[in-house]
Amino acid sequence: MTPSHIFTIPSLLLLSGALVLSQDYEYTDFAYGTPPEVPRLSVPDYNAQLVYSYECASECSCPSFYPIAMYCDHRKLKAIPNIPSHIRHLYIQHNDIEEITSKPFINATSLREINLSYNKLQSSKVDKDVFSILKEIVQLHLEHNNLEDIPSPLPKTLRRLHLGFNKISKIPADATRELTELTVLDLCSNRLTDAGIKGKILSGMKSLMQINMCNNKLKSMPADLPESIQQISLENNSIASIPEGYFKKTPNLLSLRMSHNRLRFIAYSAFNLSKLMELHLGHNQISKPFFVPRTLEHLYLNHNDFKDLNVSLMCPSLDFGNPNMLTYIRLDNNKLRGQLDYYAYRCFPRLIMIFYGNQRKDDEEGSETKKSEKPERPKATRLST
Ligand SMILES: *[C@@H]1O[C@H](CO)[C@@H](O)[C@H](O)[C@H]1NC(C)=O
Ligand SMILES: *[C@@H]1O[C@H](CO)[C@@H](O)[C@H](O)[C@H]1NC(C)=O
Ligand SMILES: *[C@@H]1O[C@H](CO)[C@@H](O)[C@H](O)[C@H]1NC(C)=O
Ligand SMILES: *[C@@H]1O[C@H](CO)[C@@H](O)[C@H](O)[C@H]1NC(C)=O
Ligand SMILES: *[C@@H]1O[C@H](CO)[C@@H](O)[C@H](O)[C@H]1NC(C)=O
Repeated sequence: MTPSHIFTIPSLLLLSGALVLSQDYEYTDFAYGTPPEVPRLSVPDYNAQLVYSYECASECSCPSFYPIAMYCDHRKLKAIPNIPSHIRHLYIQHNDIEEITSKPFINATSLREINLSYNKLQSSKVDKDVFSILKEIVQLHLEHNNLEDIPSPLPKTLRRLHLGFNKISKIPADATRELTELTVLDLCSNRLTDAGIKGKILSGMKSLMQINMCNNKLKSMPADLPESIQQISLENNSIASIPEGYFKKTPNLLSLRMSHNRLRFIAYSAFNLSKLMELHLGHNQISKPFFVPRTLEHLYLNHNDFKDLNVSLMCPSLDFGNPNMLTYIRLDNNKLRGQLDYYAYRCFPRLIMIFYGNQRKDDEEGSETKKSEKPERPKATRLST
């Protein structure tokens, strides 16, 4: 081995290892196709500046180089100050606000973005019509509050809605039906149950690309996802199965994250999708292989119950003209014996990394009982082909 090899392997391992471990537990943005953020600091529009006033609430600051933004964050505010009519971006996160009334918003017809995260908002104190009067709003950050319900009605113009870390247990049909422009809906770390998302409540969001429902109390897959969906995050629920043909309705799926659930059986062709790139199934109880679609690049099967892995089933045919894209597979903390079938290297010619790591003994308990342990950094096998 040359010194450059010695250097490359651990650094690759470190890089991927860090990525894996940090993503296993907490919600992070998706690697693929995240819709562009509305820029927080755009280049100031000097023509516009001449027109806009420098009016600003006394509790807040409106930078002269960016006069369309009002910064009111980290000020122990208990109420929202009056918002001048030229303000497009309101940053009022990290305060003590419990209540939203319409009054401060009366002139705020230009608002595009509101960041009200890290406050103490209560649903009973949010005025019903406050958001619907905002005709230009595209981004609403309400994460880390005490909301029990999704505020509704919400304006149709909304593209990103962040509601993580609240106490929401249900999505009423009328809250989402009109949101035809919404691309990102984040509901991670709430109290969603199966009963709370029943019926035709999601498919009305015809532009939805990303839905995050990690850290909730779901026992089954959310029904009625729109065809536009590309990224699904359902980590850390109690989902035990995926209904037959479930993903037939989501042909555009790029990424599915379902680690820390109770999946046991996966239908052999469940993931026969033409765009899927990322599949996180770590910390479940899966023991039988399933078909790996050609486009899949990253596959996480760590902390499951595999005793062997029949690669011929994962990859039933070789197509050298159109090879499988898999580059990374994590298999540690299963009950595997011996190395992976050599056929894997032929069938997945792009494999760069297999995390094989430690395997559990046959009689050892599954991942559930070991949840509290800090996971060890898995051992890697680097392929020579
Ligand atoms: C709305 O704008 C008018 C006219 O500039 C002003 O007199 C009034 O105080 C404003 N109200 C609020 C709530 O900002
Ligand atoms: C909103 O505020 C939170 C909390 O400070 C921050 O992490 C986030 O980046 C902000 N988001 C936007 C779009 O400004
Ligand atoms: C899983 O979700 C629950 C809330 O349902 C949360 O309390 C817990 O910290 C989460 N666990 C992990 C490993 O993220
Ligand atoms: C996957 O779907 C395609 C077309 O829908 C079908 O021809 C193929 O047989 C399926 N493969 C598996 C393994 O189910
Ligand atoms: C793997 O599965 C194929 C197809 O079902 C079967 O023919 C083969 O015997 C299996 N291999 C092992 C090692 O079990």
